[in-house]
Amino acid sequence: MQTILVTGGAGYIGSHACVELLQAGFKVVVVDNFSNSKPESLVRVQKITGLSPTLYQADIRDKQALSDIFAKENIDAVIHFAGLKSVGESCSDPLNYYNNNVYGTLVLLEAMNEANVKNLIFSSSATVYKESTINQYAEDFPLGSINPYGRSKLMIEEILRDVSTADKINQSATPWKIVLLRYFNPIGAHESGMIGEDPNGIPNNLLPYVSQVAIGKLAQLSVWGDDYPTRDGTGVRDYIHVVDLVKGHIKAIDALDAEQFKNGACKAYNLGTGTGYSVLEIINTFEKVTARPVNYKIAPRRAGDLAECFANPALALAELHWQTEKNLDDMLADAWRWQSNNPNGYE
Ligand code: NAD
Ligand code: WQD
Repeated sequence: MQTILVTGGAGYIGSHACVELLQAGFKVVVVDNFSNSKPESLVRVQKITGLSPTLYQADIRDKQALSDIFAKENIDAVIHFAGLKSVGESCSDPLNYYNNNVYGTLVLLEAMNEANVKNLIFSSSATVYKESTINQYAEDFPLGSINPYGRSKLMIEEILRDVSTADKINQSATPWKIVLLRYFNPIGAHESGMIGEDPNGIPNNLLPYVSQVAIGKLAQLSVWGDDYPTRDGTGVRDYIHVVDLVKGHIKAIDALDAEQFKNGACKAYNLGTGTGYSVLEIINTFEKVTARPVNYKIAPRRAGDLAECFANPALALAELHWQTEKNLDDMLADAWRWQSNNPNGYE
């Protein structure tokens, strides 16, 4: 049985990863400081699976805490979700973002290196791509970010590429095997409705906002711009079901044994569906699937938004043997089941 250390395992994506890993027969060790999550999410993971991850409440910047975990647990690979993820907050508090995301990852890498655990799956983001006139992004497109959050992800990608390159110089006996997973827009929730996205305060992202309007916690959704060069003028994104997304991580762990990682490598893969939906399509489909009205108004564009962005997921299919299974109706029905069963999240 393989043991996976999941950093940020109590968070939105991390908790869904714990469920899929436990159900796939992995032993799961979680490290989380609960800065953006609650222990209750892991209680729910236990209720869904009948199995418990081993929990360490610690900050990934605490080197001693990480070293103790690696000494105690027989870790085979790390899935690294821990980090801060709000674009707006990263603009007002960049040092906190670079400290948590970049420095936190450096500490994790040092602890892994010392423990000789060199298998890593990293949560990257489509936000590392430079804006392109081609809306379907492939892994070899130019990189470049326009906000501190995105730059923190890009810096980590660069660090990880350097770490992998150094193996060749050092002729390491155990080379680093690193998978960079560039997520498009994860939404939805586990089909049980027991775990899901539980943002602090007023959500920034579309889906939690739509759900909270539908349940009456928020009065009205602002649609940020209807004058983009898209089919209905509103922004188009590649929304991916969070359960499909986390299954991509298990495929990535499997791929570490495959030919392309045999002698060590650092490779990026898009995790998206390959299809984009507009904001109005999301609203209309949400209303259809849930039979709930979503009160909205058209508002000016939000600074920094792209018109259209969706994944070319061909490389993940070819090399990770992964593709999405759930459609937009599933994503929105599952998001609503979580929201309506848990109007105040985990509280
Ligand atoms: P989340 O905030 O729900 O989960 C992150 C978890 O990490 C939380 O439980 C938080 O408490 C923990 N954490 C944060 N800093 C930590 C630290 N220093 N030490 C220990 N634990 C720490 O976010 P999420 O949506 O689950 O995202 C997971 C990862 O995926 C993040 O790295 C995020 O940047 C990346 N990502 C998310 C999205 C998205 O839209 N949700 C898209 C692309 C990439
Ligand atoms: C989606 C669409 C908005 C809210 C962000 C980060 C990105 C990644 C995922 C982590 C856009 C529109 C939204 C609202 C709206 N995170 N919208 N009204 O901007 O694609 O990506 O989250 O890596 O880095 O930038 O996602 O959900 O905020 O927006 O009209 O109240 O919905 O303009 O077209 P985005 P989002």
